[in-house]
Parts: sequence; C-alpha cells; structure tokens
Amino acid sequence: MQCPNAAEPSFRTPAYPLISEEQPVAIFNLLRWHIVVVIFVVGCFRIRVANSSDLPGVCAVERRSFEDDVYPPFLLERLISDPRAMFYVLTDELGGIIGYCVAKVEGSYSHLISLAVLPERRRLGGAIQMLSELFSVTKGLGILEVRLEVRTGNDPAIQLYRRFGFRDAGVLEDYYSDGSPAISMRMVI
Ligand SMILES: CC(C)(COP(=O)(O)OP(=O)(O)OC[C@H]1O[C@@H](n2cnc3c(N)ncnc32)[C@H](O)[C@@H]1OP(=O)(O)O)[C@@H](O)C(=O)NCCC(=O)NCCS
Repeated sequence: MQCPNAAEPSFRTPAYPLISEEQPVAIFNLLRWHIVVVIFVVGCFRIRVANSSDLPGVCAVERRSFEDDVYPPFLLERLISDPRAMFYVLTDELGGIIGYCVAKVEGSYSHLISLAVLPERRRLGGAIQMLSELFSVTKGLGILEVRLEVRTGNDPAIQLYRRFGFRDAGVLEDYYSDGSPAISMRMVI
C-alpha cells in the first residue's frame, strides 16, 4: 500500500527550485533596455570648449552645484573669454549643458578653478571625462603641475581628485566666504 503523504510536496524542499535556470535570463531581458539607455546616455556625453553663448547653461550648473558660494556670472563670462583659461562644457545627448570645468595657467602650473556636474547627471563619469580632457590639453601646453583647492568635507570631489592622483598640500584656513577651510591639492601630470 502506498504511503498517503508520499505524493505530497514537502514544505521544506519546494517541488521547484527557488531560482530557476530561466530567471537570470528573464532578469537580463528585463534590464537590458535600462543597460542600453545607460550606455547610450554615458556614450552621448560630449566635451567642447565653452563660448559666450554657454554662459546661461554654465550659470545654471553653478547655481545647482554650489548653492551658497556661486561664482557670479560676470566672473564666469570673463573666464570663458580669457585666453589663459581652459574652459570646457559637458553636454548631453541633446546638446544641453550638464557640466563644466575651468582651469587657468598661472606661471608654471595650471590652477583648476571650478568643476561641476548637474546633480542628476553625477556618477556617470562626466567629471572624469572633463578632467581627462583638461589634463591632456594642459600637458600638451608643456605644463606638468595642476593645483586646486577643495572644501574640507566635500568627499565626492576629494575622492575624485585622489583617484586622479592629487595629493594634499596643506589646509588653507578661512578660505571660503563663510570662513570654511580648504584643502590645497597638487598633482604632477
Ligand atoms: C565632484 C563632482 C564634479 C563629481 O562629478 P561626477 O560626474 O559625479 O563624477 P564622476 O562620475 O566622473 O565620478 C568619478 C569618481 O569620483 C568619485 N566620486 C564622485 N562622486 C562621489 C561620491 N558622491 N562619493 C564618493 N566618491 C565619488 C568616485 O571615485 C567616482 O568614480 P566611481 O563612480 O567609479 O566610484 C560632482 O559631485 C559635483 O558637481 N559636485 C558639486 C560641485 C563640486 O563640489 N565641485 C568640486 C569643487 S572643488
């Protein structure tokens, strides 16, 4: 005689595996358009030299990135037209400005004055692309050192600069308008 429970599934071992062989494929199918979109968006970032018509877009990035300590438009405009400054904008797939960076040759070194990316476009490699371009042009000019100042506690920027090889060169007390200190950083490229 057959045991009455023999055909009943056990609660401890499900009759089917919790993760079937098809599930990874199904998850990939679900995500693949997201993957394609991310690759498309990152691939569509472009970097070009800024011109005076970029000023409104640059100011918008500035306002949304440095709420209390923004560079005034006249200063950014002056930098865009300064022949000693290297001013680049990062644009998206539609040509909109989503980031910028500016450095200026000061004697034997280049001074990174500002760098910012719109909050919703961060962690997509935009800053890395801009800095790589900037340093490549800087090196092409025969300038082999870059200096910058960054607010203490600005971990995203500090991590980014360290990743590029910048090293701390001291703390500048009372550097910002609110009295906050800055870390001075330097890198030989
Ligand atoms: C700093 C800033 C420009 C970085 O721009 P971004 O486009 O997000 O940077 P990227 O995507 O190129 O990031 C490159 C690397 O920087 C580091 N980084 C960037 N944001 C980070 C964060 N929030 N936390 C930790 N590390 C971070 C990481 O090493 C990152 O690489 P990963 O994403 O592979 O980990 C951006 O956060 C910003 O605009 N901040 C406000 C303005 C500002 O503070 N500018 C610097 C003034 S000195």
